[in-house]
Amino acid sequence: MKFFLDTANLEDIKHYAELGLVDGVTTNPSLIAREGKDFETVIKSIAKVVSGPISAEVTATDAEGMITQAQGLAKWATNIVVKIPMTEAGLKAVKTLSGQGIKTNVTLVFSAAQGLLAAKAGATYISPFLGRLDDIGSDGLELVEKLRQILDIYDFDTEIIAASIRGPQHVENAALIGADIATIPAAVFGKLWSHPLTDKGLKQFEADWQAFQAKQGN
Ligand code: E4P
Repeated sequence: MKFFLDTANLEDIKHYAELGLVDGVTTNPSLIAREGKDFETVIKSIAKVVSGPISAEVTATDAEGMITQAQGLAKWATNIVVKIPMTEAGLKAVKTLSGQGIKTNVTLVFSAAQGLLAAKAGATYISPFLGRLDDIGSDGLELVEKLRQILDIYDFDTEIIAASIRGPQHVENAALIGADIATIPAAVFGKLWSHPLTDKGLKQFEADWQAFQAKQGN
């Protein structure tokens, strides 16, 4: 499973990229706005730190506008993936862009039918939003399961990005179901390796070692 960071914060990206476990980055207009800096500068800076796919989202809502914006975004760096919203205009844009060799990530996917359409339009990635579905009492993981089945039955190359991840449990379950990628907020990423029993066990090992060393006269 690949791990993307779901953030536009360059410090967090630099910090976690040092682990060597970050395969890409996803951003959206809300995450870019949170940084309060110029969109192009932010994306180009991220692309210098992470060599894997970097998702940058269009803000136009009509197909022509999305296509024009996407063509511009794709020139910012060689690893740009253009994020396109799951709308009728978005599908039209994805179809055209995939024909032009521009990689796309269809975002705001909340149903299996939406995912199927995006794959058929030639999307490189589809992003089902787990957390937002769970928030309204629906089942985000069930959607990922359905998408996995559909993509496999019809042998689509489109990859599933489990998005809107709220905690380590989401990452584990998305991995079990067979999502290709989990895009993880920095705060959640930082929790993936923590376990209270690991901390407790390590403290015990340290204490036992110190006691042993003292007995040896070291
Ligand atoms: C990623 O591609 C999405 O934009 C992101 O995961 C949305 O997450 P949220 O529901 O926490 O805003």
